[in-house]
Amino acid sequence: MTFRTLDNLDVAGKRVLLRADLNVPVRDGKITDLTRIERLTPTIRELVGKGARVIVCSHFDRPKGRRVPEMSLAPVATALGEVLGQRVRFAEDCIGLPAEQAVDRMQKGDVLVLENTRYHAGEEKNDPTFSAALAKLADIYVNDAFSAAHRAHASTEGVAHKLPAYAGRLMQAELEALHAALGNPARPVAAVVGGSKVSTKLDLLGNLVTKVNVLVIGGAMANTFLAAQGVPVGKSLQEAEMHGTAKDILDRARSAGCEVVLPTDAVVATELKPGVSTQTVPLNAVPADAMILDVGPATVAALTKHLATLKTLVWNGPLGAFEIPPFDAATNAFAKAVADATQKGALRSVAGGGDTVSALRHAGVLDKMSYVSTAGGAFLEWLEGKTLPGVAALG
Ligand code: 3PG
Ligand code: MG
Repeated sequence: MTFRTLDNLDVAGKRVLLRADLNVPVRDGKITDLTRIERLTPTIRELVGKGARVIVCSHFDRPKGRRVPEMSLAPVATALGEVLGQRVRFAEDCIGLPAEQAVDRMQKGDVLVLENTRYHAGEEKNDPTFSAALAKLADIYVNDAFSAAHRAHASTEGVAHKLPAYAGRLMQAELEALHAALGNPARPVAAVVGGSKVSTKLDLLGNLVTKVNVLVIGGAMANTFLAAQGVPVGKSLQEAEMHGTAKDILDRARSAGCEVVLPTDAVVATELKPGVSTQTVPLNAVPADAMILDVGPATVAALTKHLATLKTLVWNGPLGAFEIPPFDAATNAFAKAVADATQKGALRSVAGGGDTVSALRHAGVLDKMSYVSTAGGAFLEWLEGKTLPGVAALG
């Protein structure tokens, strides 16, 4: 993992094209979570402080090469200005005359946000002409969008070959945290993988069994593993067509010397809705008409005991249907135990993936992990052991 950082980079008076991930969650026209914007500010402040002209570009949502007005970055640029406490200008297009004129008007220390890169089809096609049009705006390229680095697009990959390319502070922090968690971790290292489907996390599980000492499987995906071994799971969500695959992953874990930990008890109900009456049962006693909606307290106790022996933990995916209480209980309890061990300095904890971040925020421990990645898909691809094109292009 080699990449150039902002250390010793002279940007005074230079035009810096900063690839950010401004793809923030929006509901009814309002930004619902500023995390991605906040995480970006150290890089912008550093560049501004060094006298650069900071030209921020990003995709937003999936307009598929068309100018979809609801997918404009203009409101996000305003929010960025508020978070930065600095005036942020906006250019109506990310290439061509509107962008070039806006850049020409910039002074040292100014920040400009360019309109959505995905308004142009060339972005997702990684079209060299489009990359060249972006590169033309700047002297230096800085990529701070780890969460978009799994996309080989013009603004994440192509342009990195057309300008001197550097990792921003957020990109650097992500890569360093991830390297410390799986690249060269303090051992024993465990991975906790939850969520609903084995089918979406196949490559990830296959890669993890070769890298970690302990693999904890939770969420509905554990049901598939249990059912594959002949455990009746009632009406629980599970993927019958994945039983063979699940057994294969268990075999691979065995030959790699990776201990797989599955739930031993569960909280069940006949439907998934708030306040529904629940039962806690051992896993050999799931009623035929019930669904497993969370792992049980005995499982949480066993996981917490495991924690005491671990030095590193990577977490992706909740243990239960945490969005609907009381099925958040196990995820909350385990999150708190991970936070405690981390705060004591006994554990390095790295978490990521969209649902995982919401689950940790819900448990009130988002800022008590060693590192929480802002990435969704990119975090998963990294767990799969894949090379991320946006990162590779910085090497
Ligand atoms: C994300 O939100 O995961 C990134 O911004 C990537 O977005 P995409 O899945 O639309 O490429
Ligand atoms: Mg996405």
